This record gives sequence, structure tokens and C-alpha cells, in this order.
Amino acid sequence: MNAASEPLAPQLLADLLAAATAARERAYAPYSRFKVGAALLDEQGRIHAGCNVENAAYPQGACAEAGALSALVLAGGRRLRAALVVGEGAALCTPCGGCRQRLREFGSDDLPVLIADPSGLRARFTLGELLPASFGPDHLQKDACA
Ligand code: THU
Repeated sequence: MNAASEPLAPQLLADLLAAATAARERAYAPYSRFKVGAALLDEQGRIHAGCNVENAAYPQGACAEAGALSALVLAGGRRLRAALVVGEGAALCTPCGGCRQRLREFGSDDLPVLIADPSGLRARFTLGELLPASFGPDHLQKDACA
């Protein structure tokens, strides 16, 4: 069993949910009005959060997961132990296709991807379920300095 597949302690889950919820409150989503928050647990047990940031030139908008991944990398993180995404609505706020691939860069197939809404946790997937037979860093020779 690797770190990603170990059950998440209830306190960690609560901390992830709180971080993602706080990030979501800061989202800049004037066009879609759909605010999203994401929180990522890294290999050192640290939590990094992000929110979506939209743009008048629509394709330039960024997802919450992308912002959280930037924070993780900036802090020196390299591996994901858990991801949590929070968004409102009847449908589960699962990561978009592009963000599944972004998570894959730093997470393995057994990475827990938890989905919440403002009232709490709603679903739990693994990244492998969301992005099966994925293309990842192992397909390429990575630069040892990266
Ligand atoms: N969004 C995210 O932040 N993460 C996702 O995985 C799904 C979509 C954002 C992008 C856009 O600002 C808004 O939700 C509506 O698509």
C-alpha cells in the first residue's frame, strides 16, 4: 500500500474540506458564477489550495485545481496524497478532463479524489477511475533536475 491508498484520517479530511471551502469563497467567477475550490495534500502532509479565476477572454480562465497545483509546486511539493474539489449543484463537481490530466502529473492511479459541495463530502473516486489508462510522466524520460 502506498501513501495515496492509505485511508485519510478524519482530521485531514476536515482540513482539506475547510481549505477548499475557504478557497472557493475567494473564487473569481463573474462569467459562469460557478465557484470552485480545490485542496491538495502533498507528500509532506501540507495542504495547498486554489480557486477558479475566470477571464473576459474565456479560454484564459483557470480551474481551481490548476491554482492549487501551482501552489503545491511553488512550495516544493512533488507528489499528491489526496485531492478534494468543492463546487455547488446537483451534479457532482468532478475535475474537468484537463484537470484530471494535471493531477495525473503528480498523482498515481490510486490518488483519492474527493468531491464535496458546500454541505460536505459527497463522493470519493480514485484518479484511475476518473482517468483510466492514462498517459503520464512514466511515458517520458523526465529531467532529473525538474
Ligand atoms: N472549474 C474548475 O475550477 N474546476 C473544474 O474541474 C471544473 C470547472 C471552473 C472553471 C470555470 O471557471 C467554472 O468552473 C465553470 O466551468
